[in-house]
Amino acid sequence: MAISVKAPQINPDQTGINGNFKGQDILSLSQFDQRSLGILFQHADEMAKLRKKGTILDLLKGNIVTLLFYEPSSRTFGSFSSSTLRLGGQTIPIHDAKTSSSVAKGETLEDTMGVFQTYSDLIVLRHSETGAAANAANAANVPLINAGDGIGEHPTQALMDLYTINNRFGTLDNLTVVFAGDMLNGRTVHSVLLGLSLFKNTTVYLLSPKILRLSRQHFNLYKERGVKMVEIEKETDLPKDAHVWYWTRVQKERFTDLNEYERTKNSFILTKKLVDTYGSDQLILMHPLPRVGEILTEVDSDSRAIYFRDEIENGVYVRMALLALILGKL
Ligand code: NCD
Repeated sequence: MAISVKAPQINPDQTGINGNFKGQDILSLSQFDQRSLGILFQHADEMAKLRKKGTILDLLKGNIVTLLFYEPSSRTFGSFSSSTLRLGGQTIPIHDAKTSSSVAKGETLEDTMGVFQTYSDLIVLRHSETGAAANAANAANVPLINAGDGIGEHPTQALMDLYTINNRFGTLDNLTVVFAGDMLNGRTVHSVLLGLSLFKNTTVYLLSPKILRLSRQHFNLYKERGVKMVEIEKETDLPKDAHVWYWTRVQKERFTDLNEYERTKNSFILTKKLVDTYGSDQLILMHPLPRVGEILTEVDSDSRAIYFRDEIENGVYVRMALLALILGKL
């Protein structure tokens, strides 16, 4: 069967953070090393502690963050808004940039950057084209955070997911992680895999319909970075000792043939029976959300399901830390 979605490009050669976040663009997880993750996680812990104590923070007082979203989003948009506001900063929220901004009149992304760099101290961009964030960052003279570029990457989702996994297991070494769903188009998966590849003895199982397998280019990249990659085709091949199941949505918006989407979307559904059969007690169930039927609601009450709990909450702490670090406030 011919796939109607395009294979993603990879651009893992961004400038490394090397422990110094100030003024940096965040485009890809390939910019991170273990030390940079450690610094970010430490500050995220601090944010969590202060929030739980009810401390009012004003680290971003006087700062303005533009949220420029060309693709639908409620979670990431809301999370970045919340993180900025909780630090006393302000936002210019542009939720449906495709129709509401001057792009609808034919303006280029570069020109848009030229304007918003004047209005704000940092730009958070979501765009439907892979590589758009890198291009925009080149054009902008303020730091830019990639909040999802097509089927490329979604680094901040990966950072909060890695933080969540690390909090749970106390390490990111020696983990077995199952990814299920849309490996080809799932940008969060691409970023999380780059992050996991920084750690020792990572085993990854990929469960996806054939047409949504990870591109060979991605597969080889993670393998070269040391991850033990195992592709499986059916639930009965799931390992019983996994630490994480990271379930994902089949990305409808990436299909040009909607019949193909309909045929594919329900390939792998996470049910209570599946978790009870193949999941260990230590397992955590994650999903970047939104879910559209690939995890049954009966799973939500399982104590191992953390997609509506830790994962969401941690997103705000990690983004608070990231914004404050980039703007030189920590
Ligand atoms: C993800 C995304 O946009 O890539 N969602 C999110 O940011 N929380 C995953 C998805 O849309 O399936």
